[in-house]
Amino acid sequence: METTIKWGIIGLGSIAHKFVKDLLLVEKCTLEAVASRNLKKAESFSKQYNATSFYNSYEALFKNLLVDIVYIATPNNSHKLYTVLALEHKKAVLCEKPFAINKKQVYTMIEASKNNNTFLMEAMWSRFIPSIKKIKNSIDSGEIGEVKYINADFSFKANTSIQRIYDKELGGGSLLDIGIYPVFLAYLLLGIPTKINANAHYYKSGADSQLAMLFNYKNAQAILFSSFNSTSKRVAKISGTLGEIIINEPWNETNSFTIQKNNEEASLISLPTVGKGFSHEIVECTNCLLENKIESTTWSHQNSLDLITLLDAIRKEINLTYKEDL
Ligand SMILES: NC(=O)c1ccc[n+]([C@@H]2O[C@H](COP(=O)([O-])OP(=O)(O)OC[C@H]3O[C@@H](n4cnc5c(N)ncnc54)[C@H](OP(=O)(O)O)[C@@H]3O)[C@@H](O)[C@H]2O)c1
Repeated sequence: METTIKWGIIGLGSIAHKFVKDLLLVEKCTLEAVASRNLKKAESFSKQYNATSFYNSYEALFKNLLVDIVYIATPNNSHKLYTVLALEHKKAVLCEKPFAINKKQVYTMIEASKNNNTFLMEAMWSRFIPSIKKIKNSIDSGEIGEVKYINADFSFKANTSIQRIYDKELGGGSLLDIGIYPVFLAYLLLGIPTKINANAHYYKSGADSQLAMLFNYKNAQAILFSSFNSTSKRVAKISGTLGEIIINEPWNETNSFTIQKNNEEASLISLPTVGKGFSHEIVECTNCLLENKIESTTWSHQNSLDLITLLDAIRKEINLTYKEDL
């Protein structure tokens, strides 16, 4: 692998615009190629961000021999298809969250990574946010004692004219789109729960519009929530036997957190993100590629499998199925 990592992007929608701005901030990375289903859109995106090539087909980008890694920013229902196709073209892949619709699909994607000896990572960018990394280390080293309770949500009043929010064909619904973040936090800090309870409200399509989840652990509990129906500040709380951590808003991409140890003054820890915060997962991919790894140790294939297993279990509780489950 050369010392500069050449990126391709497919699916030039809302998140691709945010991601590329951070990509351009990261050392040792360049934007080589972009692809859209629409040539004019690809050309305009390419001009805006100085990509070398642009295409009106995702597969054409996979065939570009100069591209090292592809960022997949298409709707949820297509993640597995394009990930496997890219890996078969020996392109490393950073695929947006949710990694796929269900565990069966994620398993297939990981197999494709192994079979092609090519890097694959879920774009769980929150795992690489400096504050979240620091919090994980603080909790693991017992700074607030034994964690007994986590409270996290991700909720905003969505524009329901945006099809991918509610359309089950595209893998819509609050759990897969945003509920994945509070589930990620509970998993990161407490692991796999012994019992899950969940209740949802639904769109006419059958996709969940809001969802309350309770994770029970042997010695702890987590109360989690996601919704497209109302706005919430997005502050998360982690409560331990020796103190509490408040992850400041918006917790999943935060610049700071507050730690309040029992009987001590609260202290604010500021760890600003570079750019919006996607830069940190981009650095991780870059380092992994330069070290010829096929997975990250910080957000591994097993972490993605565990996370999708939890999402599948929550969907079972709320009787939410997608056609990919059949
Ligand atoms: N990490 C984050 O913070 C974050 C935030 C938002 C979304 N996401 C994830 O990123 C992915 C894309 O979300 P987004 O908000 O960017 O969606 P979006 O604005 O709708 O963009 C998705 C793009 O996918 C392409 N596409 C391919 N097949 C499509 C189809 N059948 N219908 C619609 N678009 C199709 C389109 O690009 P072309 O027309 O150029 O082909 C479209 O612009 C989702 O998986 C979502 O969960 C992540």
